[in-house]
Amino acid sequence: MAQPIDFPAWQALQQNFEQSKHIQMRDQFEQDPQRAERYCLEVGGIHVDFSKNRISDEILGNLVELAKQAGLPERMQQMFRGEKINQTENRAVLHVALRNRTNNPILVDGEDVMPQVNDVLRRMGEFSHAVRSGEWLGYTNQVITDVVNIGIGGSDLGPLMMCTALKGFGHPRLNMHFVSNVDGAQLRDVLERVHPETTLFIIASKTFTTQETITNANTARQWFLKEGSEKDIAKHFVAVSTNKAEVAKFGIDTDHMFEFWDWVGGRYSLWSAIGLPIMLYLGEENFIEMLNGAHLMDNHFINAPLEKNLPVLLGLIGIWYINFYGGGSHVIAPYDQHLHRLPKFIQQLDMESNGKQVKMGGEPVATETGPIIWGETGINGQHAFFQLLHQGTHVTPIDLIASLTKRSNLPGHHEILLSNVFAQAEAFMRGKTPEEARAELQAQGLSDAQIETLVPHKTFSGNRPTNMILMDEVNPRNMGSLIAMYEHKVFTQGVIWGINSFDQWGVELGKQLAKTILAELTGAIDPQKHDASTSRLIRLYRKTNCAEDGTCDLFN
Ligand code: F6P
Repeated sequence: MAQPIDFPAWQALQQNFEQSKHIQMRDQFEQDPQRAERYCLEVGGIHVDFSKNRISDEILGNLVELAKQAGLPERMQQMFRGEKINQTENRAVLHVALRNRTNNPILVDGEDVMPQVNDVLRRMGEFSHAVRSGEWLGYTNQVITDVVNIGIGGSDLGPLMMCTALKGFGHPRLNMHFVSNVDGAQLRDVLERVHPETTLFIIASKTFTTQETITNANTARQWFLKEGSEKDIAKHFVAVSTNKAEVAKFGIDTDHMFEFWDWVGGRYSLWSAIGLPIMLYLGEENFIEMLNGAHLMDNHFINAPLEKNLPVLLGLIGIWYINFYGGGSHVIAPYDQHLHRLPKFIQQLDMESNGKQVKMGGEPVATETGPIIWGETGINGQHAFFQLLHQGTHVTPIDLIASLTKRSNLPGHHEILLSNVFAQAEAFMRGKTPEEARAELQAQGLSDAQIETLVPHKTFSGNRPTNMILMDEVNPRNMGSLIAMYEHKVFTQGVIWGINSFDQWGVELGKQLAKTILAELTGAIDPQKHDASTSRLIRLYRKTNCAEDGTCDLFN
C-alpha cells in the first residue's frame, strides 16, 4: 500500500514547507485584506475561521491534491455506502446511518439497516417519554428522579459530554449521573446521593463484557437489592448493548434492552442507543435535533467539494502541522463552561481512532499519525498552560470554540469571555516583535539596560496556529453538527495516513495482563512470571492487603 510520502502532492508540500516556514501570518494578513473572508466556512450554525493558520492558496491546493491522491473521495463513498472499511474487524462503519434523516436505504450484507435504526429510535422515544412524563414508575410507584449511566469510554464520554453541554435543555426533575471508573469511590459517591425507589440505572456497554462496567453494574444491582427485590429490577435497570446474550446473562430482561450494532464504533456511538441518557435528559425532540445537526454535517461532508469541505480542510490543516511542522499535539479549548467535557470526548474520538502505527495492510507507517489531543476550558487554560502555547518551543495548533449567543444572563460575563477568545487568537497569530516589546518598555520609563534585559522575555514569536470555531448558539442541532465535524476530520486524516481509524487493538494488551494480575493480587493463583518491577509491585500490594497466611480475598 502506498505511503503518503510517495504521493506527488506530499513532495510538493515538502517544498511548500521549506519555502514558507518562515513566513509570518501577520504579514500575510497585511498583504491580503481578503484573507479572513477567503479562509472561513459556515455549515449550519457552525462558523469556522481558519485564516490564522500557516497556509496559502498553494498549500491548501496541494493538501487537497494529497487528499485526492490518497483516495479520500472514494473512501468517503465507501463509508456512506456501508462497505466494510473497518477491515481488521470486518465491519462497516455506519454512525452516519444513525442520523440518516432522509432515511434512504443503507445496506450492510445486502440488508437495509434503516428499519432497525428507526425501530430502536422509536423505542427509545417511547421509553424516554414514559420516564420524563412520570408515567414510568419505580417499584414503590414513585417517579424517576435520578438516572445513573454505568459505562466507560464511548459508552460514557459522549452522553456525559452532551448532557453537560446542553444542561439548559435538560428535564428539571432528572438528575443525571455518570459512573465509569471501577474505583469504587465514584459509584459510592453517586449511590450516597440517590434512592433505589427513584433511580434508573442504564448499563451501557457495546460488548457487555467490559470489566469496569460489569463490576459497577453488579455492585449497583446488589445495592438496589438491599431494598428492592429481583422482580423490581425490571423497573430500575435497562441495558444498552450489541450483545443480547450477555445482557440476559447479567439478569436484565432483553425487553428492557436497547440495541445497537457492530457497525457502530464505541467512540462513534452517542447517536445510537448509547445516547439514551441524552434522550432521557433532553427529550426525543432535542435528540432528533442533534441527529439533524449531524446529518447536516454528513451531507456537507459527502457533497461539498474538497476545497470547500469543512471537516476535510480541518483534517488537512492538521496534517500540515503534524507531518510537516512536527506538531505532535493539538489543543481543544472551549470558551464555554458547559463544554468542559468536550476535550475529553474529542481525545477518545481522535486518539483511539488514529493512534496507529501500521497501515491498513499491516506495514509500518512512514509518517507520524494521530496527534495527542488535550485541552481544558480556554479561559482556565489561559491561567495555566497557555504560557507554553505562547512562548514554548512546540508548534501546537489550537481549536478555540465559543458560542456567539450568551450562555447566561449575568451581565458582562459573555463579553469578557468572547473578548478573551478573540484576543488569544490574535495574540497567537501576531505575537509581539522585539521592537514592539522595546517600545512598550520605553513608554513605562525603564532604563536602557533594564529594557534590553527584558526584551527577549517580553517578545512573542507569534505565528501560532488557531482555528476559531463559533456556534451561533449551543443547542442540540449545533452540537450534533460540531461532533460530526470532528468525526469526519478524524476520518479524513486516517485516510491520508492509510490507517484503520475504526479498530482499537491497542487497548487489549493491558486488559489481558490485568486479568492475570487480578488473580495474583487476590491470591487465587501464584504470581506468574513478570518482570522484576511488576512482581515487586504485586508483592507490595499483597503485603499491604493480605493476611499472613496469604489469604487475600479482594471481594470481601
Ligand atoms: O477498551 C476500549 C473500549 O473498547 C472503547 O473503544 C469503548 O468505547 C470502551 O472500551 C467501552 O466498551 P464497551 O462499550 O464495550 O463497554
